[in-house]
Amino acid sequence: MKGMVFTEFLDFVGESFGEDMVDDIIEVSALPSGGAYTSVGTYSHGEMVALCGALADRTQQPVGDLVRAFGERLSDTFARDFPDFFRRAGNLFDFLESIEAHIHIEVRKLYPDAELPRFVVEERTAARMVLLYTSPRKMGHLSEGLILGSARQFGVDVRVTLHALDVDEGMSTRFVVDLV
Ligand code: HEM
Repeated sequence: MKGMVFTEFLDFVGESFGEDMVDDIIEVSALPSGGAYTSVGTYSHGEMVALCGALADRTQQPVGDLVRAFGERLSDTFARDFPDFFRRAGNLFDFLESIEAHIHIEVRKLYPDAELPRFVVEERTAARMVLLYTSPRKMGHLSEGLILGSARQFGVDVRVTLHALDVDEGMSTRFVVDLV
């Protein structure tokens, strides 16, 4: 997993729970990297799982809620650092459709070792989009937060419903995104 995800995550933890919490979760997670991430480095996904688990433990909040909140914040960073992806799409559903067809393809050019999920658009109408997320990393709640945060970037309100599915090649989540 790319270091920028870790540096953003630790920024999120610091802003939400304070710098002591950042130090605490790094210490208790006994990370191979020692928690010294650089945005261009690559680290084991297991370190993210350990950090999220430690944060859930210490805050007494469900991991899914924390990861969703992180995803919402991460979309602010994406909008700041990659404004063209948002501008090019023009509306939320075109943006979500462009993750698989354009955005993550560009991400792979930037970071050839990126570990990216699959996003298949299963259904699209004016008011609803159904997306199937598949990844061995099971970060459905990160996607949920990114969808909610992206909706905010486009100034629309959405209701996102998650349906977890078990499939052979990893965990899948079906997202039903309704404009409200
Ligand atoms: C400007 C928009 C976006 C950019 C620049 C971007 C970039 C990235 C990058 C750099 C990674 C890390 C890869 C790694 O650690 O190896 C990543 C992973 C991921 N992205 Fe995106 N992304 C964008 C939009 C989205 C959106 C809108 C969603 C969801 C709706 C999404 C879902 C994910 C997920 C869930 C992962 C984690 C890896 C996995 O689940 O396998 N991304 N993306």
